[in-house]
Amino acid sequence: MNNILKEKLNYLKNSRVKSAMEYSLLAGGKRLRPKLLYGVVKGFSKNVEDLDNIACAIEMIHTYSLIHDDLPSMDNDDYRRGMKTCHIEFDEATAILAGDGLLTEAFYLISKANISSDKIVKCISILSAAAGCNGMIYGQELDMFFKDYGNDFNYLKDVHKHKTGMLISAPLKIGCILSDKEELLSLFEEIGYKMGLAFQIHDDILDYTCNEKELGKSNSDIKNNKLTSINTIGIEEAVKLKDKLYDECINILKGVNNFNSNNLIELILNTKNRKK
Ligand code: IPE
Ligand code: IPE
Ligand code: MG
Ligand code: MG
Ligand code: MG
Repeated sequence: MNNILKEKLNYLKNSRVKSAMEYSLLAGGKRLRPKLLYGVVKGFSKNVEDLDNIACAIEMIHTYSLIHDDLPSMDNDDYRRGMKTCHIEFDEATAILAGDGLLTEAFYLISKANISSDKIVKCISILSAAAGCNGMIYGQELDMFFKDYGNDFNYLKDVHKHKTGMLISAPLKIGCILSDKEELLSLFEEIGYKMGLAFQIHDDILDYTCNEKELGKSNSDIKNNKLTSINTIGIEEAVKLKDKLYDECINILKGVNNFNSNNLIELILNTKNRKK
């Protein structure tokens, strides 16, 4: 996916901010969100022109969220995707601008996709809602300021839904739009929320059980006094729940009519077994 991502940013003039955008975007990562999009569209046997534009845009928004999440004023982390975080490698101002750049250019990329303008508007609407102030940004606010709001597991589920679940639901829903399956939007949204909750519980578990070398990123939940699935329900319950949620996603997918779920199920199984 790196070649495609790099090519999509070719039109930008060379600058320090562009270098920082490329640095974080091309550092790797699991590429889960684009893979979910490809999995849905492939599962419906749909051939979508310029699907890469949409997939890259989603990954750019995710990468922006990581760059900002690592900033000193947020999680204050110095290691990400096996490399120094953006603000350590460059500087804080450049990292803020690189995040802003990835967010903004993502929507430009979608606007240039060779698909109907009706579908473009729907993609933009889903993605902006998922990343915006009722979505990921709200989740990040709850994560940062949970002491002002609540501290039990029900509250944490709401944090996880917003900060992680919505950007996992978005590619699934966009896949439905691009495959002309709007009637399945709410089902795939539900799968995304389940998977997002499983994924963020899993992230909490790995932060607690692995070191930063193993993870390729800083593990700072304890240092930052975060509310996590570990300090709400405990590690054993957390492991059980994340496995159960991943399995529920697989079972729902198996029941979707006229859909070849093999790719997505394999992706979920790989994600369930991930160690980083
Ligand atoms: C990290 O996301 C932030 C969370 C929502 C847990 P990923 O674990 O998908 O990060 P990359 O893309 O693989 O680096
Ligand atoms: C961040 O959650 C989720 C985002 C919206 C970026 P975390 O803070 O737990 O993600 P990591 O552990 O730093 O990847
Ligand atoms: Mg965070
Ligand atoms: Mg973090
Ligand atoms: Mg984490």
